[in-house]
Amino acid sequence: MWKYVSGAIAVGSIAYGLMRYFAGGVCHCTARLDGLVVIITGANSGLGKALAFELAKRGAILVLACRDLDGALTVKTEILSQLEYKAEIHVKHLDLNSFSSIIKFAKNIDAEFEEVYALVNNAGVFYHPQSLTQDGFDVTFQTNYLGPFLLTQQLTKVLKRADHARIINLCSDAHRNATAYDLTCLMTTQTEFRSHFLAYSVSKLALLLFTREYAKRISNTNIVINAVDPGNVETNIYRHFPQLCNSWLYCLQWPIRKIVVKNPYQGIQSILHMLLTSNHSTGQYVQDCKPVVPSQYATNPKLTINFYDQTQSLLENSFSESDC
Ligand SMILES: NC(=O)c1ccc[n+]([C@@H]2O[C@H](COP(=O)([O-])OP(=O)(O)OC[C@H]3O[C@@H](n4cnc5c(N)ncnc54)[C@H](OP(=O)(O)O)[C@@H]3O)[C@@H](O)[C@H]2O)c1
Repeated sequence: MWKYVSGAIAVGSIAYGLMRYFAGGVCHCTARLDGLVVIITGANSGLGKALAFELAKRGAILVLACRDLDGALTVKTEILSQLEYKAEIHVKHLDLNSFSSIIKFAKNIDAEFEEVYALVNNAGVFYHPQSLTQDGFDVTFQTNYLGPFLLTQQLTKVLKRADHARIINLCSDAHRNATAYDLTCLMTTQTEFRSHFLAYSVSKLALLLFTREYAKRISNTNIVINAVDPGNVETNIYRHFPQLCNSWLYCLQWPIRKIVVKNPYQGIQSILHMLLTSNHSTGQYVQDCKPVVPSQYATNPKLTINFYDQTQSLLENSFSESDC
């Protein structure tokens, strides 16, 4: 009997230790954001939703920027029902797969808010089937990279009006799977087949390069910009991933995932930290609330500048603001 009891205790303790280990870093900042405006893209699900809850508790004025307005309104209702005071939460439409939607959203924010403290470029897709947006770009490329690039540029004016402002881009360690060659291929054709995983990795490498280059270009302003890898988090991001959208396969993996995969609250710790810390460093790649060194391609200065300029020309050739 004792043999089984001590065995069960040993297994339980190991599982608990591993869960603590994989839960990652914790943000210990106690700062509040009373009255400061924070825009969160993709706030109707996963990390964006968990972040909205946490920031509402800390007094921030939230803008939930989502393409699923019903989902965003549900999140708003859930937050308001859990707080003792009336938080200010705005729900606004934003579809990153449409440049005109991005421009319209940014103009609306500019007209409505005196200043904005933070933009969290959280919305993203993973393992998305290859298809083109209405603007003619690969969905993963536009949602995860071109959209946040344009949105950030468009909102810089209103971010500059704050005393101090922050931009956070949700990246991923998957960026380490992509090379400079993959970036070049991506820029030259949007229709050539590439693996869904590589499409994701390249988009996140591109977003990381943008973070580092934009940090340099706005270094003389009040704005800091950083990239965060939340780790492996249980969210809807895996909705297109064959190994997890099959319920049988999911059930088989469940015990392991319960130990090694973070829940959304654990996943937002680095984002919270970068929004709340008194440290104003910029251009960093952060995991578990600490800066880490990204891949060799993400730190290549020539690639960083060139890729920014190429993206800028790509956008300039793709649409004109007066059409939006
Ligand atoms: N979960 C992880 O393990 C993990 C790891 C590394 C990085 N990340 C990054 O973390 C971010 C948040 O992901 P998550 O895990 O919270 O996934 P999620 O639950 O699937 O949330 C993604 C959000 O992005 C929104 N979105 C997708 N396409 C959009 C578009 N065209 N326009 C506007 N919104 C759009 C989704 O809206 P709909 O509901 O309307 O589709 C959803 O609200 C992503 O950038 C992801 O790459 C996640």
